[in-house]
Amino acid sequence: MTTSPRRYHITTFGCQMNKADSERMAGILEDMGFEWSEDPNDANLILYNTCTIRDNAEQKVYSYLGRQAKRKHEQPDLTIVVAGCVAQQEGESLLRRVPEVDMVMGPQHANRLKDLLQQVFDGNQVVATEPIHIMEDITKPRRDTTVTAWVNVIYGCNERCTYCVVPNVRGIEQSRTPEAIRLEMEELGRQGYQEVTLLGQNIDAYGRDLPGVTPEGRHQHTLTDLLYYVHDVPGIERIRFATSHPRYFTERLIKACAELPKVCEHFHIPFQSGDNEVLKRMSRGYTHEKYRRIIDTIRQYMPDASISADAIVGFPGETEAQFENTLKLVEDIGFDQLNTAAYSPRPGTPAALWDEQLSEEVKSDRLQRLNHLVALKAAERSQRYMGRTEEVLVEEQNPKDKTQVMGRTRGNRLTFFAGDIHELKGKLVKVRITEVRAFSLTGEACLTVTSKR
Ligand code: SAH
Ligand code: SF4
Ligand code: F3S
Repeated sequence: MTTSPRRYHITTFGCQMNKADSERMAGILEDMGFEWSEDPNDANLILYNTCTIRDNAEQKVYSYLGRQAKRKHEQPDLTIVVAGCVAQQEGESLLRRVPEVDMVMGPQHANRLKDLLQQVFDGNQVVATEPIHIMEDITKPRRDTTVTAWVNVIYGCNERCTYCVVPNVRGIEQSRTPEAIRLEMEELGRQGYQEVTLLGQNIDAYGRDLPGVTPEGRHQHTLTDLLYYVHDVPGIERIRFATSHPRYFTERLIKACAELPKVCEHFHIPFQSGDNEVLKRMSRGYTHEKYRRIIDTIRQYMPDASISADAIVGFPGETEAQFENTLKLVEDIGFDQLNTAAYSPRPGTPAALWDEQLSEEVKSDRLQRLNHLVALKAAERSQRYMGRTEEVLVEEQNPKDKTQVMGRTRGNRLTFFAGDIHELKGKLVKVRITEVRAFSLTGEACLTVTSKR
């Protein structure tokens, strides 16, 4: 008797952290003999890697899950796994809510997928949400792309921003060793990857849980030291990192970025609010003045640097005047890109319990006003690219125009230009910019810089 191969499908919600975890879990499944199924309805293992940052992200998971739970009644050999942040937040209660689920596993357990699945195949319903030490994963991730890759450097978060579920669901900070990070990057370089984004919820916390202090009393392993340690990895031409926290962002780091040619001039530094009172009640640990100083310093060292950020509107008790301070900061800084969100009360976070919650109308009105300004400012920022020659790393074909390829500038602007993807994928190309829009550019190739593949 021949058995057809087991097929899996992973649906990923949420941030880059989840995407990186999904790639590792896909690697583990393929190592176990599973094959990727593009159509989820054709898979016999469905894995949802979930996000709970806002209520709508969580609700989306339940609607997807409902559909697969129904399918399980017709196809009992279907395995349903819920991983990620909703899994961690809900734990066993998720099994009560959706009894068809076979396994609930928190983000810290991603690398244990093989052992956990074995328990499921032995006939158990499994809940893996206890805090654990994250082991180095020895299987190879199945990455979604062949040009750019994510590399985790620190898991978890020890901050306590009063609106945020991340520390509850991702656990305490756990840094990987510089050696493990470098080894992973060297392997990526050998495989032909050109760009690496180092990942952490608060990447400036990197290393503070690792042993070792310098004679001056500073932690031996910081993000800055890590950048110096990995910047010469062969094959890797661009290095990015995210997410930065204004509370811990240092001038030493800015200097390193200016000095190290592979580190791209793009900074993602969420400010959340432009009002000091709101920042205090968010427990962010900085003022808008400090935030402005950081951006000024970056621009002193790298006048053309791109700046992006996240912001929340409608935090409990936010007054119109306080919201206007956020508008003012956005007006003054001129972000290249800003991710905006209306505040969403999250279970287990302090701010969710406060009395001064704002109405949905006020929140969505403020969100619209902020988004309007963001698009205007981004369009202004794009203007500086007009007529310039930018280095673009080609990632994909333009899905909307097959005669074009697309990639990103060092400043992270999405750029399109005419070309053949088979010839250009993974290449750094000098592109003269002929058209600018708020969040993307169009140009024409003048010269291919690298021809490694
Ligand atoms: N670690 C990063 C961000 C993690 S979450 C940081 O410190 O900035 C990504 C973004 O989601 C946050 O920057 C914030 O803007 C948004 N966010 C987090 N919790 C939220 C909530 N309860 N409601 C609305 N937006 C939220
Ligand atoms: Fe959440 Fe704050 Fe940690 Fe970012 S730094 S993940 S916003 S608690
Ligand atoms: Fe969402 Fe978890 Fe990331 S809550 S934003 S997937 S850390």
